[in-house]
Amino acid sequence: KKIVLAYSGGLDTSVMIQWLKENYDNPEIIAVSGDVGQADELEGLEEKALKTGASKFYALDLKDAFVEDIIFPCLKANAVYENVYLLGTAFARPIIGKGLVDIAIQEGADAICHGCTGKGNDQVRFELAIKAFAPDMHIIAPWRTWELKSRDDEIEYAEKHNIPLKINRETNYSKDKNVWHLSHEGLDLEDPMNEPKYDDILEMGVTPENAPDVPTYIELEFEKGIPVALDGKKMKGQDLLLALNEVGGKNGIGIIDMVENRLVGMKSRGVYETPGGTILYKAHELLETITLDKDTQHFKQHVGIKFGELLYNGLWFTPLREALSAFADKTSETVNGTVKLKLYKGNITSAGISSPDTLYSEQIASFGEDDSYDQNDSAGFINLFGLPIKVKAMQDAKKQK
Ligand code: ARG
Ligand code: SIN
Repeated sequence: KKIVLAYSGGLDTSVMIQWLKENYDNPEIIAVSGDVGQADELEGLEEKALKTGASKFYALDLKDAFVEDIIFPCLKANAVYENVYLLGTAFARPIIGKGLVDIAIQEGADAICHGCTGKGNDQVRFELAIKAFAPDMHIIAPWRTWELKSRDDEIEYAEKHNIPLKINRETNYSKDKNVWHLSHEGLDLEDPMNEPKYDDILEMGVTPENAPDVPTYIELEFEKGIPVALDGKKMKGQDLLLALNEVGGKNGIGIIDMVENRLVGMKSRGVYETPGGTILYKAHELLETITLDKDTQHFKQHVGIKFGELLYNGLWFTPLREALSAFADKTSETVNGTVKLKLYKGNITSAGISSPDTLYSEQIASFGEDDSYDQNDSAGFINLFGLPIKVKAMQDAKKQK
């Protein structure tokens, strides 16, 4: 028997290797980590996996694909969940799930195991991605069934089975990190009355209070809705995002504290750091204000909400998501140009927008005379546009008599 394990190197997945061996007739464990930009979290994983009982370890470099194939399509669609969450964890799940299936098929594995709890969104996202590519794959989710009910139970189990761990007691938030974001949940955050202890929590940047007293200006260039250059320098997506994380984090940008509605029904509270992503969303949105026509721009607001919901709920590999991506691709054809931004203590303000595809006409918008807008046309327009209001008022007046 062979089991592919989604491996993070944390306490959960380390204990899981031993637990699977015990409960599934000593299977071979293939540990798989998907690198979506967790950086230091990935160090020493192979050694750790093999030491704790895995027979093989794969590190999948998904970083570029994550940025180009998931993040940028979502940016183009302005995907957002409940107005503020930029979906960092949800973005990463489809591509990691697909990676697990690839290895499982290559290895001829009998099952895929993941370390998500039975109370969250991540179990759904992983499993829907697995079902999309391996509909018959057996899925094992130990948290939903095993007898270990707490971190202390896990530590005890690890000690009993001589699983080598550098144990840190329960002082850590539940975190999820990638090149787009870092999430924090649990501990004192579970009570929405508690203000987050930002100085302990933040890793990607500082609070607005601790940001510099002078603004930072940056300039982003977009081609078809995708960022291609920062301050005049062409960069590939991942590098651009890393650079924006740096400058955004320093300026206190992109810190979100929210209570969200999980797919599984409960409300949960989280703090998210998305410095670079927040800058990209803002710049993209500003550029769209001059490059999209009114109806498209308005309709796209609905698309962003729906797209965000699909992502949040793990529905990336679906016909509707693909169709909405096609919509976003089509409408992004004119989203070209440059946006200058001023970053200052958690705020992002526009410092200039320009586009070869701009629909903004200074001549038409200005108060002076011009050839294409005849102010006399307005009288007739208002008469027809206001006809229902006029008819209603006349009817009301008749009834009052
Ligand atoms: N609540 C967020 C989401 O559903 C973050 C989840 C974080 N996941 C984790 N395994 N720590 O997208
Ligand atoms: C988990 O429950 O595994 C993490 C939180 C989530 O998936 O929403």
